[in-house]
Amino acid sequence: MRDILENEIPHIKFKDVSFAYPGEKENLIFKCNFSIKKPGFWMVVGENGSGKSTLLKLINGIIKPKKGVIYANANIGMVFQNPDHQILMPNCRSELLININQNICQNEINKKIEHVLDQVGMTGFEKRPIHTLSGGQKQRLSIACALISDRNFILLDEPTALLDQTSQLKVLRTIKNLTSDPKKPLSALWITHRYEELTYADAVAELKNGFLSGWQEPLKFQYN
Ligand SMILES: Nc1ncnc2c1ncn2[C@@H]1O[C@H](COP(=O)(O)OP(=O)(O)O)[C@@H](O)[C@H]1O
Ligand SMILES: [Mg+2]
Repeated sequence: MRDILENEIPHIKFKDVSFAYPGEKENLIFKCNFSIKKPGFWMVVGENGSGKSTLLKLINGIIKPKKGVIYANANIGMVFQNPDHQILMPNCRSELLININQNICQNEINKKIEHVLDQVGMTGFEKRPIHTLSGGQKQRLSIACALISDRNFILLDEPTALLDQTSQLKVLRTIKNLTSDPKKPLSALWITHRYEELTYADAVAELKNGFLSGWQEPLKFQYN
């Protein structure tokens, strides 16, 4: 199963998906149609409360649609807004170790740890205690954890909301590099309410009043 998913291009598709939380009459998400069929840096932008986190919960199956169909053939990893809600272990190595879901030898484990830390620009951070990391380094460690567990599709829920601008740019560039890697490009869906981040995306959709727009070129994207 792992090999099949690893070698396949991850694919997510929503067909006429509507969703309301229990007790709510109005749909929060209404007749949502979109698909992601190829690797790249995909962004969804929307104001606070527009349903962005709900959209991610529908994608990874935490909640089910009221109507419509969701098809997700992907090995999905998550990066949340607050890394302190995600990181469990006391240092980078132990956090990465609990995310390795393969039976591999010590030598290979060490190589993998080195490789994923390198991929997120954290070479040499293996022994660093988590409490000494900046917010942006914690977010990049969370991305490394997704990579080491062989995720091929990463959902990032406002990963820069708590970061200063320097850290924000490093996290953006990390995902940009991973999604444009010519050998094995990653698929990433990045949720944001920060319009200045959109220029990093390959394609952008806006969630507004329950409706998700079609994919648009970031430069053509109009805030309306
Ligand atoms: N578990 C829940 N039960 C009921 N309402 C919820 C729940 N989670 C979120 N909501 C409501 O749904 C709306 C959209 O929330 P959310 O998807 O978190 O938006 P965003 O991530 O865009 O800020 C908000 O009005 C929020 O209060
Ligand atoms: Mg949210």
